[in-house]
Amino acid sequence: MTANGIMKLQRFENGTIYGIGEKRGLSYKEGILYVEGVAIPHLARVLGTPLYVYSQESLEKSIKAYKEAFENTLVCYAVKANANIAIVRYFAQQGLGAEVSSLGELQVAIEAGISPEKILFSGVGKSETAIKKAIKASIGYFIVESSMEMEILHELARRMDKKVFVAIRICPDIPVDTHPYLATALLESKFGLSIEEAFALFLATKKMPYIAANAIHFHLGSQIMDLSIFDKALSVAESLFYRLKSQGINIEVIDVGGGIAIAYSAVDKEPSPRQWAEVLFPYAERMGVQLIIEPGRSLVAHAGTLITRVHYLKQKGMKRFIIVDAGMHTFIRPALYGAVHRVIPVIPHENAFIKADIVGPLCEESDFLAKEVLLPEVQRGDLLAVLDTGAYGFSMHSCYGLHPHPTEVFINGESYQYIHPSAVHFPHS
Ligand code: LLP
Repeated sequence: MTANGIMKLQRFENGTIYGIGEKRGLSYKEGILYVEGVAIPHLARVLGTPLYVYSQESLEKSIKAYKEAFENTLVCYAVKANANIAIVRYFAQQGLGAEVSSLGELQVAIEAGISPEKILFSGVGKSETAIKKAIKASIGYFIVESSMEMEILHELARRMDKKVFVAIRICPDIPVDTHPYLATALLESKFGLSIEEAFALFLATKKMPYIAANAIHFHLGSQIMDLSIFDKALSVAESLFYRLKSQGINIEVIDVGGGIAIAYSAVDKEPSPRQWAEVLFPYAERMGVQLIIEPGRSLVAHAGTLITRVHYLKQKGMKRFIIVDAGMHTFIRPALYGAVHRVIPVIPHENAFIKADIVGPLCEESDFLAKEVLLPEVQRGDLLAVLDTGAYGFSMHSCYGLHPHPTEVFINGESYQYIHPSAVHFPHS
């Protein structure tokens, strides 16, 4: 081992080189990457790869930060970020609510033990089956996005003779500094209604005896670094609040959606739940409303690590490729949003660093996990760990190319709960 080699290995052991560690429940012990008390090579051997591993310790930390910052606020976890039943059950045990946007997510939330009154049902395309199931379960709020949806909801509620609570989603028409696919607050987006349309719809609900529309909702987008846009959106919501009041409609709840970013790279600075609360609280206090938030990514992203095995190494001209068994079908964020996730070796070798693209087995140029990554040289059969894949990782996977579902495992200390891929159910709606 060269002096240089020793240094590099030690840097991995400390976990400092990529700034991994506590937040993710990951650490190197004697040169092997562990999730909490479990060695990753052991998991990969027993469960196979590609494999998503989730750390309870990491979840505990993110929940704690939310609980400390957000007293008297209903925190509804956005299940679309990660619908793994063990994760949703853990959030249920911690008293969190859930934001769901399909029949499948609704079923997972209920099965996981989230109290129905803490469930919010959002999305522009709710199916009738899902609406009926949600009415039957007496969920907290339907987040309504159009007048046609409101009419259907009212009709179904009338037929079932059950009054439902509704939040109308407004679109404050604010540009959000994030990937264009993740910005949802501009008028051209499919989400929500303009302020005038929302105002008119609130008034229309006065004639709908099965609808209690006493809440305003917005969701500005995702991976939002600059929290000042919540300030802008809340001032729009506040003026609507007073206009509605003057018409005899009392808004009791403001739901500001989710969206706060996490740091994927060592240079990004992650906004904290406390900073978010500081922007939101003055508005909620002034209006005297109950606040709801719907974080997804910021609760689960750091808790998940994707483990993949190296199939082949390939040199083509000047370029090096590491071909692994995970690809865009396993984890689509790099392909879809150009997202950059750190990749680290599970057992770093003590040799020179190489620069390579990490690519999957699919027949597309978009099938990559990372580009131009600096890694200690890897060998066929080695394991790599893709960090911060707990949010929008497994939940966005596909079976493209007829590759199997990745496996998921939930770690708590030295024990682990394996979620068999066949347990993942996507009911038809
Ligand atoms: N509430 C609603 C109504 C939402 O649509 C979303 C996310 C959230 C809450 C949670 O947002 P978060 O806190 O996770 O940012 N696939 C993309 C993210 C799409 C977000 C969709 N909606 C990605 O991988 O970055």
